[in-house]
Amino acid sequence: MPENKPSSIEELVLILDFGAQYTQLIARRVRECHVYCEIIPFDTPVTEITARAPKAIILSGGPSSVYDDGAPRCDQAIYDRGVPILGICYGTQLMAYQLGGKVTPGQEKEFGRTDLVVVDHSSLFAGLDRDLVCWMSHGDLVETPPPGFVTTARTAGTPVATMENRARKLFGVQFHPEVVHTPWGAEILRNFLYRECGLVGLWTAASFIDSAVREIRAQVGDGKVVCGVSGGIDSACVAALLHKAIGDQLTCIFVNHGLLRLNEAEKVRETFANHFKIKLVYVDAEDRFLARLAGVTDPETKRKIIGEEFVRVFEEHASQIEGARFLGQGTLYPDVIESGTKNAAVIKSHHNVGGLPEDMNLEVVEPVRWLFKDEVRAVAAELGLPEDMVWRQPFPGPGLAIRIVGEVTRERLDTLRHADDIVVQEIKRAGLYRELWMGFAILAPIRSVGVMGDQRTYDDTIVVRAITSQDAMTADWAKLPYEVLERISNRVINEVPGVNRVVYDISSKPPATMEWE
Ligand code: XMP
Repeated sequence: MPENKPSSIEELVLILDFGAQYTQLIARRVRECHVYCEIIPFDTPVTEITARAPKAIILSGGPSSVYDDGAPRCDQAIYDRGVPILGICYGTQLMAYQLGGKVTPGQEKEFGRTDLVVVDHSSLFAGLDRDLVCWMSHGDLVETPPPGFVTTARTAGTPVATMENRARKLFGVQFHPEVVHTPWGAEILRNFLYRECGLVGLWTAASFIDSAVREIRAQVGDGKVVCGVSGGIDSACVAALLHKAIGDQLTCIFVNHGLLRLNEAEKVRETFANHFKIKLVYVDAEDRFLARLAGVTDPETKRKIIGEEFVRVFEEHASQIEGARFLGQGTLYPDVIESGTKNAAVIKSHHNVGGLPEDMNLEVVEPVRWLFKDEVRAVAAELGLPEDMVWRQPFPGPGLAIRIVGEVTRERLDTLRHADDIVVQEIKRAGLYRELWMGFAILAPIRSVGVMGDQRTYDDTIVVRAITSQDAMTADWAKLPYEVLERISNRVINEVPGVNRVVYDISSKPPATMEWE
């Protein structure tokens, strides 16, 4: 089990992970009910589980059948500890199987949107209609619930779509309440947590900040902490939290690699140094990065140079901070979950600028390692970070260098910065900024002929890229209104010197990626 977990959690829910692709979503939905939860391996010993005094346990779905050799099983003693349990999909089948119900291997799979009929009273359905649509994705099914259980809903293909043992507070749902395709799924989870487990939702940004501050103080004592900030929300939130906890024991380092967007460096300095009064070492390393990038056109080489140089510059300055023993890092819960699973390797191939200086022997402080991104935003807002930083769209560590196809020069950076600023302004003006994963400009390595006034031009091309995405793994190009595209095009061509053409990228991911390099 991970260390450093928040200690002052009064309402803890543990989610036993049986390998479903949706387990993380369950955790997010529970957190959205303002209840703190953690995902733990399905075979965590019962003594370890009960030692943490969870108020509820959720058994996730999973790809196995209970009849598979080596099918994942939790310790059966878990059902006897008086802790309410909700099984989801495989979790329900397992509960039925372990408690003496009948699970039938599915000949026909039930998949997708399915009508659900409530056949008996259940507080899980409180406030909901009797005829509902749910999202199914299973092969096996529970045919007969275990002794002491009643069936509370069915579908055409699933005789026991939900079941419960009211006295023992054991519940099972065959469908997936955590996915948006089960439109009232959040209500089911809320009903389980609030009505059956008696929780009230104590997990809020303010309560998190209180406990994080206590824990940071306990970990750090009177030690000094170094923290890199980039202007991104994760590191900004960590810096603000650390500062609230330990004030002047914190020094932030902001390496401006010269590849940031218009006015971004000033904004970061303004926020941290002037507004928060955090000790901030500002390193203007633009010349150094540009010198190393001169003549480089290969995307991976650019990334590698920037990553290496960044760590080097950061280390040079961090090592000058006398007595620094800790390094603040913006690791988030999805990273923690992913690095704890077997498929960690596929998740992140990106080099994230701000890597850990390994030789410095710093102990890591990761106060947001239990948070999802939306929670980081809520905490950051509560801490008083400016709204445009809280809602800033993702921005790659290597910055504009991977949005300039071809060589990165000061002049080309200026062109891209100017155009990008117009793209973002117009997207914001249209009220679309928060709907997009990202909206930005790329400088293509293409010059083309145009005519301005009576003059022939032979100038640069700006590509506009706007995308929607849930999780960065897949993305659609955004159907921006023509008027917005028109304004962007007119303004970029009129206002940015050396640009005479604007094109819109209409590629989805896959097969394209979001960035061009
Ligand atoms: P791609 O281009 O892989 O981008 O579809 C997916 C998301 O990741 C961001 N990205 C990066 N972030 N370092 C980062 O910190 C990188 O090297 C990097 N490359 C891409 C990209 O901006 C998008 O949000």
